[in-house]
Amino acid sequence: MAKLAINGGVPVRSEPFPAWPPDDPGYLEALKAVLDSKVWGVLGQQGEAFCREFARFCEAEFAVACTSGTVALQLALRAAGIGAGDEVIIPPYTFIGSATACIAAGAVPVFADIEPDSFNLDPAAAEAMITPRTSAIMGVHIGGMPFNVDAVKAVAEKHGLVLIEDCAQAHGAEYRGKKVGALGIAGGFSFQSSKNLCSGEGGAIVTNDRELYERAWSLHNCGRVMEGGWYDHRMLGFNWRMTEFQAAILRHGLRKLPEQMALRDDNAIYLREQLSQVAGVYPQAFSEGATRSAWHLLICRYDREAFAGLSREKVVAALAAEGIPASAGYNPLYREPAFAEGIDYSEFPWAPQIYKGNVRYEEAAQNCPVCEELCSCSFWLYQSVLLGSKKDMDDIVEAIAKVQAHAAEVP
Ligand SMILES: Cc1ncc(COP(=O)(O)O)c(C=O)c1O
Repeated sequence: MAKLAINGGVPVRSEPFPAWPPDDPGYLEALKAVLDSKVWGVLGQQGEAFCREFARFCEAEFAVACTSGTVALQLALRAAGIGAGDEVIIPPYTFIGSATACIAAGAVPVFADIEPDSFNLDPAAAEAMITPRTSAIMGVHIGGMPFNVDAVKAVAEKHGLVLIEDCAQAHGAEYRGKKVGALGIAGGFSFQSSKNLCSGEGGAIVTNDRELYERAWSLHNCGRVMEGGWYDHRMLGFNWRMTEFQAAILRHGLRKLPEQMALRDDNAIYLREQLSQVAGVYPQAFSEGATRSAWHLLICRYDREAFAGLSREKVVAALAAEGIPASAGYNPLYREPAFAEGIDYSEFPWAPQIYKGNVRYEEAAQNCPVCEELCSCSFWLYQSVLLGSKKDMDDIVEAIAKVQAHAAEVP
């Protein structure tokens, strides 16, 4: 095989992959309709319609649209009664918003390890981290791959905990044939730019619990109640409302999503099959019970020995030179300086005494050996490459195989 592009060889490809968000005049029409309506915020038609349509898409009864995925998770937690002094178990292989949502709700995130093949929360590890202060488990469908909901739910039920789903990456993903989002008490989605359904920024919760829905609605709308007036505030809430522009963009995106999902499914299945022929490359496994990933990320673990001991950063640099955009992915969240340098929970006057002073998450690495290992030898491809052609998938496979075969030559 030819010389690696990182060493001056010819790259596998130089054409770009499909753009994200996609080029689509429908977005402009959607925005124009809102502009012309002169109703850009609350009391417009788009927000309510989007909530109805998104709830239906998620096979849930209710949805509340809001400003971000982090806010959605915070809404889900708060509306479920999680707050001051509660501990919430989360996996450390996730975006920081999963954890900061807990902290913003007044709770303390506690990290439990992930499974070696699915990269998702390990139900037994979650159970091992339960203390008398634990009130909730927040599973994250990482990369769009549903976590083992039945097993995590069984742990939650056994210990009287609430189950929240972080669905920020998992629009349309299915667990035992059912859409994710309302499999626990509530789920939070993100519509940030990179997400499979996006409006630049934005988020939503879905739930089948009417009381939780009404609380979340009030919380995101300054404490108003649905049947009340504009200056009728029954609880302390905030302005976390989505604009009509975002809702209109999302309604258009939602109409396109099923077709995009089918294409991602097709390409992901093909790509995973082809990658199984490259030595030492292991795509993210389906968690037990997961029947459809949203393929927000195509996560690959690699065997360091088969890649001449290369770090993930070097693998990603070699792939970039070949024309394949990849990412090294997350560090264990507790290693981010925001956590590793300590969180001063005394800033939160409601935090229980045990948390006063700096909590440094020093034990997290010992508790999460699988996450430690996986972060050192994995990389991601993004969902937008899965909207390409079979030839695009072949290029990805060729580039990964080339880097593997010449790994010892990577500088
Ligand atoms: C797993 C996960 N959780 C939470 C979030 C937070 O979403 P947002 O960036 O919309 O606040 C994100 C997205 O960035 C995410 O990927």
